Amino acid sequence: MNMVRLIYASRLAPHAGPRDVQIILETARANNPAKGITGALCYNDTYFLQCIEGPRTAINQLYTSILSDERAADSTLMEYSDIHERIFENWSMAYVKADELTEQIVMKYGADRHFNPYEMNGEQALGFMINLAREKDRYLATVIKK
Ligand SMILES: Cc1cc2nc3c(=O)[nH]c(=O)nc-3n(C[C@H](O)[C@H](O)[C@H](O)COP(=O)(O)O)c2cc1C
Repeated sequence: MNMVRLIYASRLAPHAGPRDVQIILETARANNPAKGITGALCYNDTYFLQCIEGPRTAINQLYTSILSDERAADSTLMEYSDIHERIFENWSMAYVKADELTEQIVMKYGADRHFNPYEMNGEQALGFMINLAREKDRYLATVIKK
């Protein structure tokens, strides 16, 4: 299987709100297992940072769909690479609320103590995701195993 990982940042659209984020998560968790997609979505009322990994065709199709999704705007592709193994093999879509992140992880990969994925480069975004997965018991607010 040609497996890839894609990480991007985006913003919640001005007309969208917390209910939309909830629906996005429900959709992700409903759809991703059948497509072999795993990942994590980090969100802080303004920004999304999402990692999706799985078969290349499925990931490319999902990102195309996300780009035209009106609930999010200003998507910036940060990392796209072939992978041999997943980071989030246990999660159809882990959800991380940024206010539950520790200062340590935000400072490690960010410019200051505020979570802003637009200030990260691709390498930092990947490091951030690897740390999230490693520290999953502490950081992940909701874990769905499917
Ligand atoms: C920030 C963001 C993240 C999303 N993540 C996923 C995802 O992981 N999986 C998914 O199927 N849809 C995701 N979506 C929704 C897709 O854009 C699209 O609405 C959905 O895949 C359509 O699914 P449906 O055909 O079941 O309605 C996301 C949307 C946004 C705005």
